[in-house]
Amino acid sequence: MCGIVGYIGKKNATPILMQGLRALEYRGYDSAGLYVAGKGVLKRAGKVDVLAAAIPKEFSGNAGIAHTRWATHGPPTEKNAHPHTDTSRTIWVVHNGIVENYAELREAMIQRGTTFESDTDTEVLAKLIGEEYGMGVVLEDAVTRALKKINGTYALAVMSEREPDKIVAARLGSPLLIGIANDAYFLASDATPILPHTRRVIYLDDGELSILSPNACMVRREFETLSKKIEVLEWDAETAKKQGHEHFMLKEIMEIPEVIKNTLRGRLDFNEGTSVLSGLQNVASRLANIQRIIITGCGSAYYAGLAGKNLIEEFSGVPVEVEIASELRYRRFTGDSKHSILLAVSQSGETADTLEAIRIAKRHGMLTLGIVNVVGSSIARETDAGVYNHAGPEISVASTKGFISQIIVLALIALMLGRQRSLQKAKGRGLARFLSELPEKVSEILGRKDMVAEVAKRYASMQNALCIGRKFQYPVAFEGALKLKEVAYLHAEGYGAGEMKHGPLALIESSVPTIALLPMDSVYEKTRSNVEEIRARGGKVIAVTTEGNEAAARLADDVLFVPTTHEAFLPVLTVIPLQLFTYYIAKERGLPIDKPRNLAKSVTVE
Ligand code: G6P
Repeated sequence: MCGIVGYIGKKNATPILMQGLRALEYRGYDSAGLYVAGKGVLKRAGKVDVLAAAIPKEFSGNAGIAHTRWATHGPPTEKNAHPHTDTSRTIWVVHNGIVENYAELREAMIQRGTTFESDTDTEVLAKLIGEEYGMGVVLEDAVTRALKKINGTYALAVMSEREPDKIVAARLGSPLLIGIANDAYFLASDATPILPHTRRVIYLDDGELSILSPNACMVRREFETLSKKIEVLEWDAETAKKQGHEHFMLKEIMEIPEVIKNTLRGRLDFNEGTSVLSGLQNVASRLANIQRIIITGCGSAYYAGLAGKNLIEEFSGVPVEVEIASELRYRRFTGDSKHSILLAVSQSGETADTLEAIRIAKRHGMLTLGIVNVVGSSIARETDAGVYNHAGPEISVASTKGFISQIIVLALIALMLGRQRSLQKAKGRGLARFLSELPEKVSEILGRKDMVAEVAKRYASMQNALCIGRKFQYPVAFEGALKLKEVAYLHAEGYGAGEMKHGPLALIESSVPTIALLPMDSVYEKTRSNVEEIRARGGKVIAVTTEGNEAAARLADDVLFVPTTHEAFLPVLTVIPLQLFTYYIAKERGLPIDKPRNLAKSVTVE
């Protein structure tokens, strides 16, 4: 989604802003632009490279703001790209979020004689700020006054030609953080543009406004100055690079063993057969009494939630509902809120629908918990308590290591809830051991990635596919199909294996292969029958099964093996061949693997 970068200091802002825009590319965007004090504005439709090529040599200054835009109001054209300006072309604004009442505001301004250059809600905001600024107030006061007139969400940065030594930034609902170096201040939508320069940051909270100058940074709410905590980021810039891999997606898959170790680190109590989650300590007694959990999320996070439901119900017996956040937020909340919790799963911690579902659940008096990867993100801060994934930055739009770490956290929560109830210590100890063995088992799968690449080559031209699974493998079928859709641009459907007879079998022919999640688990025989039904109708089958399943080679056209583990944890292993399979198909097809068309990493609009 849209990204903001800002710089004010002693150096030339232009290369810093451009480097920042490149660091934000992974979020998804379709145009870009920048404003540099004393030089003016440059915008281009398309990639940051197109903008870079248009920048003249002398385009330098000590402060500036820049933006990558992901179109919401109006097409991705140069005129709609940010920064936008006021009528007198004095102030320049970059903005993430949505001004909900922009149409009425725009209409009223047109009545007053204002003309607009773009279709965007941001230009309305720029012109509003300009009107206030025209009254002779300083920039921060003009911004404060203008923001009172809008409904919606924003992260914004504003500069004025009259006050070139100042950037005003404000946040409501869209993330924004300030980086603090010795001789400069940075501004960004997330940490990636700031990391090469400094690790010291301040997170702006909703309703806060910041005034940056070359040697000072002030944060205020309304007109009251606040004293904000400086936090130190754990991630370094190197972590966010590809480390020799052709794509972030493969790099992130290869990191999974390390990610699982990091997610588990210090959280398993082998003696008590339980998990120790410090982020949930304050709410542990409430959790011991809950009678219902609603898990919510979007995309892969939602499918991790489905896997979490199986784990939590299996180990603790607590009933779990899983609902897509974009549906949950519009549903009537029912049941006993006091004994229910909302568990929100989100890698970025910024997904708008998930955030809104949390706010609604809070209003209903529910305890809200987050499973979030990005430290300090909106969801991390708005939930009552939570568990961080510690998966490191995930740059590829399609989630891989993030998804796995979400399941691991859900398994830890399931273990804790189970041990608070009737799960016996010996069983808990066994589960803790199974969890701790997963990194090694994932490494075994990754060691055979070239075999997956070989199989993928054979299917690279397919147009349609089905993914089927049962019980613990049911969510994996959906996640596998989602990966094929988003990364390989292939029409794939996830299905419960038992549902094949109720429709999808009609699709089966030799050109529509089925990926069958067929580990030797408690429902192996049932799923095997479904596979035989597909084969009997001329369908090709790629089976993902556990080592030692000698029959698999006879049963399927191609077989991808994973090591064995407790059946409840098998999704962590079986999804990896599907991630790799998708990666190699997309590579064969020459697709933009890390940034699929039309998709964004962080979906901050509903
Ligand atoms: C986007 C991403 C997905 C992700 C989903 C939810 O669609 O492309 O990979 O699963 O958003 O994002 P979140 O950050 O909330 O996990």
